[in-house]
Amino acid sequence: MAKKITKFICGNCGTSHTKWVGQCENCHEWNTLVQEDIENIPKGLGHAQGTQIEFVGLKGKMDVAPRVISNINEFDRVCGGGVVLGSAILVGGDPGIGKSTLLLQLVSQVSTKARCIYISGEESIDQVRIRANRLGLFEEEISLASATNVRDIISTLEKANDVGLVVIDSIQTMYVDTLDSAPGTISQVRTSAQELIRVAKKNNFTLLLVGHVTKEGAIAGPRVLEHIVDTVLYFEGDLSHQFRILRAIKNRFGPTDEIGVFEMTHSGLTEVENPSALFLGQRRGETSGAAVFAGIEGSRTILVEIEALVVPSSFGTPRRAVVGWDTGRLSVILAVLEARCGLQFGNHDVYLNVAGGLRISEPAADLAVAAALISALKDEPITSETVIFGEIGLSGEVRPVGQMDLRFKEAQKLGFTNAYFPGHHQNQKQKINKSIKTKEIRHIGDLICLFSITSTKRDKGLGIA
Ligand code: TYD
Ligand code: MG
Repeated sequence: MAKKITKFICGNCGTSHTKWVGQCENCHEWNTLVQEDIENIPKGLGHAQGTQIEFVGLKGKMDVAPRVISNINEFDRVCGGGVVLGSAILVGGDPGIGKSTLLLQLVSQVSTKARCIYISGEESIDQVRIRANRLGLFEEEISLASATNVRDIISTLEKANDVGLVVIDSIQTMYVDTLDSAPGTISQVRTSAQELIRVAKKNNFTLLLVGHVTKEGAIAGPRVLEHIVDTVLYFEGDLSHQFRILRAIKNRFGPTDEIGVFEMTHSGLTEVENPSALFLGQRRGETSGAAVFAGIEGSRTILVEIEALVVPSSFGTPRRAVVGWDTGRLSVILAVLEARCGLQFGNHDVYLNVAGGLRISEPAADLAVAAALISALKDEPITSETVIFGEIGLSGEVRPVGQMDLRFKEAQKLGFTNAYFPGHHQNQKQKINKSIKTKEIRHIGDLICLFSITSTKRDKGLGIA
């Protein structure tokens, strides 16, 4: 009989350790090691010979992976034009964000084209039915089950050869009965996922695994799950906002920069075809500290408002709080504004917020953030018909960014008449829409010149050099 050995596996990177330590030796995260009892498998291959592998050239016949279009456009686009048959997709997200709702809506759409199975390990059949009723989906032909034993699930799936799509909600509730550890532990999650993916590939159906995200932000179970699936989607959003964003983190069959925007309503998730209009919908005229950024997410332009608040600090160390942007990047922009333009943020608390719960990662947002910060510090609004974009370098120069024509086009569509932009690349003349008045900002100093020299905060002596 195989001997049991105890190992300590890092919940963050999956590295196994022979004894418990406070910090993982591989990823240096603290307190991520969990104890797991693993059967000792004999090392090495022994003397038995394997069969020969046949090698082929790069040129040759290829099969294009067939896809199932779900008719939920936002979902299909994020997947790269529908879900690929036989692929394994992990849908991660915080508890309560709407993963089960999204997948139930998805299977109901796909059920008209292929047989769909929805296996819930978290909710009873009644609970799923109540949700389906709420979503108005009770007429759909979906095979529903409440189960958690992977052996039962696999035996059932292996026999059913007409299946197109299977949802497992969630992978943390599944267990393999040959392992001693409890459901949700790393070895259970990993083995359950591997077994389910094996059947999905063999029987050529799409497998959607729901995975909860841990406090640290990684899909529990841990990153190892991300390696064994074909696509990793994150469903994110702020629980206090109704917007939800579906983002591809990894995609073997499509792009990873696309996002899908949904709105959680009382009767389920609805697609948001024009996110800019929605993100800008709540703007309240001209207020200081607000700047509209024209960003690119995948193939779409999204206009979003960036809000900054700059107030004198009452503590020795001023506070910097950021929602929807990178804290480190904010420090860089503040440092550039201080060093290159003499603006003083050192004795001010700075709060930065991207409206609507969107998370921006594009460097092109730098100029809009800087404009919001200057506007907040000077207490002087930017005209509300202005969009801003550009990347800021450490010397204060503003660098051109990609797809500027798309950004102008979207801004014009939404009624914006002005744009602050970095100008063109030297060897690249792009056509600019004539209906938008553009102002080239080559250096961060050009931006500051757009604000009037006398301003209320300056008069009050609040830190403008
Ligand atoms: P759910 O899909 O259960 O989240 P997850 O599976 O990610 O844990 O969604 C739960 C939340 O969504 C819950 O707080 C209620 C809300 N909700 C709506 O607002 N409208 C709806 O139509 C449904 C079904 C849920
Ligand atoms: Mg759920």
